[in-house]
Amino acid sequence: MKFIHLTDPHLTASGSLFEIDIDARLQAAVASINAHHGDAELAVITGDIAHWGEPGAYQRAATALAELTMPWYPLMGNHDVLGAFYDGFSATPQAPDGRAYYKVDTSAGMFLMLDTTSEGTHGGLLDDAQQAWLEDALVAATGDAFIFMHHPPLDCGLEGLDNIRLMNADVLADVFARNPGKVRHMFFGHMHRPFHGAWRGVPFSSVKSTAHQTAPIFGAGVKLRSSSEMPGYAVAMITAESVAIHDISFLEEHTTFENAREFGGRDKPSV
Ligand SMILES: [Fe+2]
Repeated sequence: MKFIHLTDPHLTASGSLFEIDIDARLQAAVASINAHHGDAELAVITGDIAHWGEPGAYQRAATALAELTMPWYPLMGNHDVLGAFYDGFSATPQAPDGRAYYKVDTSAGMFLMLDTTSEGTHGGLLDDAQQAWLEDALVAATGDAFIFMHHPPLDCGLEGLDNIRLMNADVLADVFARNPGKVRHMFFGHMHRPFHGAWRGVPFSSVKSTAHQTAPIFGAGVKLRSSSEMPGYAVAMITAESVAIHDISFLEEHTTFENAREFGGRDKPSV
């Protein structure tokens, strides 16, 4: 099963941000996905759809994402505003309490979409209702579960991001501890960087934003800096034995050149 991980388009009502044509970047990502990965079962956009939360930004996002040839599911990020989010994405499932957490059944297993936003802070929080919902979903799970959330629950070493990660990660760790082996992979937004590893025994990944990126400047007291380096999206391929993820630099697709070997690997003739 193949799906697309797209994140942090940060659209605005005006169409640009930090002198980057963010509309064009999202549209180029969508065009690349349709051209090369139209066989994907679905796409997930892990939050920060809008930069300022403007209704017009969600309208632009809905228009751009409607071009995707597969179903797509957006999450809330710290820059998003719930009311405007659902005004723009009226077809997105909504929890009974109005928050943007929901389950999508896929051929690879259960995709659990969380809303880790918290009023008044850019940091994340897994609220009581979602803790219970997640626990119930994992207890009931008979196959693999995959978690999608905007905020990562761990430090990445970039202080500006670590200060606004999931603030109550221990709660998530406890849910994992009570449901060992149930969560196969976690997918985050928020990082604006390729970011891969494992936390509490569960593999995770994040991917570049389709808009601006986080500059990888490490060190104590270093404030968050962004960059205009190339955007990306990820293609995830899930089988019974593997989760394989490719980061795609879609604005550099024109740079390919032929580099075929005479033979090798699986092509090597048997003698
Ligand atoms: Fe973001």
